[in-house]
Amino acid sequence: MIDELAVALNTFQEDFKAALARAASDERSLEAVRLEYLGRSGKVTELRKQIGKLAPSARPAAGKHINDAVSAMETLLASAREDAESHAVQRDLERSIDVTFPAIEPELGSLHPVRHIVDDACNYFRRHGFAVVTGPEIEPDYYNFDALNIPADHPAREGFDSFWLTGTLLLRPHTSPMQIRTMQQHRPPVAIVAPGKCYRRDALDARHLFQFHQIEGLLVARGIHFGHLKGMLTGMCREIFGASQSVRFRPSYFPFTEPSAEVDTTCPKCKGSGARCGMCGGSGWIELGGAGMVHPNVLREVGYDPSVYSGWAFGFGAERLGLSRYGVDDIRRFVESDPGFLEQLQ
Ligand code: PHE
Repeated sequence: MIDELAVALNTFQEDFKAALARAASDERSLEAVRLEYLGRSGKVTELRKQIGKLAPSARPAAGKHINDAVSAMETLLASAREDAESHAVQRDLERSIDVTFPAIEPELGSLHPVRHIVDDACNYFRRHGFAVVTGPEIEPDYYNFDALNIPADHPAREGFDSFWLTGTLLLRPHTSPMQIRTMQQHRPPVAIVAPGKCYRRDALDARHLFQFHQIEGLLVARGIHFGHLKGMLTGMCREIFGASQSVRFRPSYFPFTEPSAEVDTTCPKCKGSGARCGMCGGSGWIELGGAGMVHPNVLREVGYDPSVYSGWAFGFGAERLGLSRYGVDDIRRFVESDPGFLEQLQ
């Protein structure tokens, strides 16, 4: 009887090996083989039942035979499983790595077009000896209005459509407070550009944003006149827009400059012809911002003697410069973060 068991056990083991070999290196098939042979209701359990039929004295030896066989089979199964696992890894590697496949290019970010404009304008002035300064976006009304010759009851305050935070603090609607901050800290001569964010309660449309950027410029020294202003601003426009660009000064009014001008440049779309041009509305010109000779009251406010010193100032909208430079038809495109738009302007 015990011999019969030994024979059965032998065949059992051989069958098991063959089954393992058939399962090749597939983990699921191996698990099926394990259940069939070594599982709780598998073939080995059938064999164990045979022990009961043996003479009691023969049972321990039979049990040991079976246990030895089972542990040998488990060892075989474990190594088959290891093979299966490394085969699976190998298959994955073969499937997923094709070294000849073109690499996925990382998407690199780039500077925003408005940043390019601000940088180019600042670099132009830096080359001419100007310092670049920045200041707070929340200002007391003193810096934003009073010191700029706009007293509390002055109607020009309305024109700035400001976001007031308290009775005296506001989000600056222009960068001109930087004129005052600079002149209070430095004796003349001063030559600065001050780029930065500004805020106005404007409804959004093709030409207006409620948050935008300005580039302020200020030069105060002895003997500065309007010709210096025209020369510098014309030079800046040529640098930003190209050599064919003209600059036009239209008489205007700002409380902090006298005389004052609105500055236009040749429409970059129709090149000044105005012919059915949607960009400039047919005038051939695009408005960039305001400028003028610093008002004597402003100089006096910061302790500069207007009979000794004179100066000019300007404030241009960076997005406006961007519209002109890139021929963009809607200012909102600059803040929509549309990669398709931004990639065209790199
Ligand atoms: N601060 C003015 C504005 O935002 C522009 C300006 C600046 C005009 C400097 C004259 C001198 O409208």
